Amino acid sequence: MKLIGPFKQVVTLANLPLRGKLSDEQLEVIVDGGILINQDKIQQIGNFEILKSENQHVEIDAIEGEQIALPAFVDSHTHICFGGNRANDFAMRNAGKTYLEIAESGGGIWSSVQHTREASGEELLKTLVERIDFLMSLGIATIEVKSGYGLDAENELKMLRIIKRAQEQTKATLVPTCLSAHLKPRDFDGSNEEYLNYILTDILPKVKEENLAKRVDIFIEKSAFQPVESKDFLVKAKELGFEITVHADQFTPGSSRIAVEVGARSADHLEATIDEDIDFLAASDTVATALPGASLGLGEKFTPARKLLDAGAIVAIASDWNPGSAPMGNLITQASILATFEKLTTAEVLAAMTFRAAFALSLEDRGRLVQGQNADFVTFKTPNFQNILYNQGSLKAENVYIGGNKIQEHGE
Ligand code: NIG
Ligand code: FE
Repeated sequence: MKLIGPFKQVVTLANLPLRGKLSDEQLEVIVDGGILINQDKIQQIGNFEILKSENQHVEIDAIEGEQIALPAFVDSHTHICFGGNRANDFAMRNAGKTYLEIAESGGGIWSSVQHTREASGEELLKTLVERIDFLMSLGIATIEVKSGYGLDAENELKMLRIIKRAQEQTKATLVPTCLSAHLKPRDFDGSNEEYLNYILTDILPKVKEENLAKRVDIFIEKSAFQPVESKDFLVKAKELGFEITVHADQFTPGSSRIAVEVGARSADHLEATIDEDIDFLAASDTVATALPGASLGLGEKFTPARKLLDAGAIVAIASDWNPGSAPMGNLITQASILATFEKLTTAEVLAAMTFRAAFALSLEDRGRLVQGQNADFVTFKTPNFQNILYNQGSLKAENVYIGGNKIQEHGE
């Protein structure tokens, strides 16, 4: 056993409901707190001095100065395995060019597919691990990573194998997701249905065989896959034993409904979700994931997180870090900005980046500092947890602990 502290505040996120709105008064804040760890799990949270006197022979990991601790963050939606860069797309979009003009001049998702196919495995691995390290420096210890820039069996499997290799090089938990249904690739000779069928017959069985991912994602949108073919695909992917998540309602409404109907674990984006579908989501167990990084990258409106929470939905916030629509990757900055525009309480934002995001990934062993949960937590050098969102990402995490072990020293 090991006792870590004292912390000015330990924000546990204990006793908060999985769904719906939260007030900051509901947050449990342990003042002058300590975290008692047994192996890699939380044994007890309480006043540091009391824990110390009750556990006289435990090793003490003394915290210097004024620090606070809270559960390590979970980023439940990223595309951080990719080759190349789309700075030119960004510049063209800001210069007023349309989606079609950008695609015609060699940009868009297809350009990332070409760069990712051309990149060597070593290069992809190196840049993926660098991005994981950046996310960990923000206090994130669990990261979902999608394929989706390979778009044929060889290259999708290459991406997923690289994500698996990255797991061997990091202490963070990586959750891989197969997004072969990101777009029908330009070099596929056949219809959308035929491509989706190809994923079902030529990609997913191998993903399963090599245990490369347990989750399947699809981009349902006018420019990608259409509602009926997508639903059919998702039902079949589910029958193969995969959990489902959907890129839904990004520009046009309707697909979050499909996500709920197929029992998806999450419906992500939702910038264009209509009120009726907000209620439909709120009545389900499908997590509604806001991706403010994509709104900021594209200059689109934010996900209606306030309305979703008021209606009783389970709301998560994730970075969507990708080379096209969300190049920033700083989840804390994005969540803080979303909170300002959508009027979200600190409790709602912290829940959305911890246990609610963990639920979206079916991980129920993390996201709160309570007995039995993983001892994954992040510390900040500040006396007050409100400063994290107030500083909009410029207050750097001090240390990240995973399974009770310090991973990161002083914001390095
Ligand atoms: O989540 N919307 C579709 N997919 C990504 C964008 C990927 C890209 O532009 O490369 C997203 O925003
Ligand atoms: Fe995405």
